[in-house]
Amino acid sequence: MAAFDRSPASAQDVTAAPGTTEPAGAHPGTEGSEALRAHAAAALDRARRRTATLTDIDDTELTRQHSKLMSPLVWDLAHVGSQEEIWLVRDVGGREPLRPDIDDLYDAFQHPRADRPELPLLGPDEARAYVGQVREKALDALDRVPLQGDRLTESGFAFGMIAQHEQQHDETMLATHQLRRGDPLLEAPPPPGRRAGPLPEEVVVPAGPFVMGTSVEPWALDNERPAHEVHVDGFALDTVPVTCERYAAFVEAGGYDDPRWWSEAGWAYVSAHGITAPRFWYRDGGHWRRRRFGVDEPVPADEPVLHVSFHEAEAYAAWAGRRLPTEAEWEKAARHDPVSRRSLRYPWGDDDPTPDRANLGQRHLRPAPVGAYPEGASPVGAHQLIGDVWEWTSTDFRGYPGFTAFPYREYSEVFFGGDHKVLRGGSFGTDPVAIRGTFRNWDLPIRRQIFTGFRCARDLTRDEVM
Ligand SMILES: [Fe+2]
Repeated sequence: MAAFDRSPASAQDVTAAPGTTEPAGAHPGTEGSEALRAHAAAALDRARRRTATLTDIDDTELTRQHSKLMSPLVWDLAHVGSQEEIWLVRDVGGREPLRPDIDDLYDAFQHPRADRPELPLLGPDEARAYVGQVREKALDALDRVPLQGDRLTESGFAFGMIAQHEQQHDETMLATHQLRRGDPLLEAPPPPGRRAGPLPEEVVVPAGPFVMGTSVEPWALDNERPAHEVHVDGFALDTVPVTCERYAAFVEAGGYDDPRWWSEAGWAYVSAHGITAPRFWYRDGGHWRRRRFGVDEPVPADEPVLHVSFHEAEAYAAWAGRRLPTEAEWEKAARHDPVSRRSLRYPWGDDDPTPDRANLGQRHLRPAPVGAYPEGASPVGAHQLIGDVWEWTSTDFRGYPGFTAFPYREYSEVFFGGDHKVLRGGSFGTDPVAIRGTFRNWDLPIRRQIFTGFRCARDLTRDEVM
């Protein structure tokens, strides 16, 4: 995906697939319309506060293009407002357009990121005023529209979709901050240290069926739907993501110089671009250092490796005698509870994320060390599947059996096919509203400016299967 640079959409099928077991479809604690409205308003407000943190910066920084890969931050700001106007003010709210003249400017499909600085964009003050006016009208719509009986607003779906959309752009804007040169503009406390005792290298997931995707999660997007049963052969999965220390061993062993570990496309890409280490790493004498949001620091040994492409993840796995997990393997390890035979909303259960369970929401501007979130472990014992780093899977992004685009094709359907790989789990830059056990992200296999890492898997041996 041009990472999250797409317009929002989703499906709102509240019927559970026959024969599957999923938790009931409701936001915990939102029984009743008033509680649901408050829940949606809080999600919108949290997104706006994060947008403000990322955009309350000098006008020059806001309007500059920090990388050809990204929009100027001021484009993201007004784009967030434009989508909110289209969906919540005009469609859901039934109100007159505020700025129909700028629809085209902020349509991600009309203008590639590299060209956006040349557009006659709203200036910083104008953009801030615009998103504020739109929000006022969106909240007015939230106050008065029924949250049942219409697919777009059922359980507050459209409001949740727009809160997720803004948070997705907030993660994209965070990636722009990472690409930016210069002194730090953002700050946050460090994540917790390791809290788990010794962990096994890998967890074993026995063969069998599980329910993948969802038909009941109220704010799930169209590509997560519908719930369907999938048989997964037994496999082993790394308990934690691959760390910087382990990845550095691959680099030191000449991993980037040996075509044996790379796919043809991966080898061609790293050769053509002179790529020899994760993005933002550089060597200083015998040590690896990195640049992180304007801070220069040693690469921490025990953090999940960050800013690697699919090609790099795949090459590491080959070098290690392993492979990347499929998307179905990842989701089964994350959600399937072998005791209840149910698929959970999150690895730890059905309750929403908390700071003890996962590193989400830009609370910390880095992944936490492996073993930092024992309370977030899945039923089979895999840690940090949600938060810290997005994890590459080996699966191409396609629709599930029975997929239907909603509210429109451009959210995900136009990206289906063999070009994009699925990423799972969210990163430290992802808000809780925009991640769950079923959430699917996608991107080109060359992308490395996003907050991506990975873990490895392997088939079970004949002895292990018996
Ligand atoms: Fe967008």
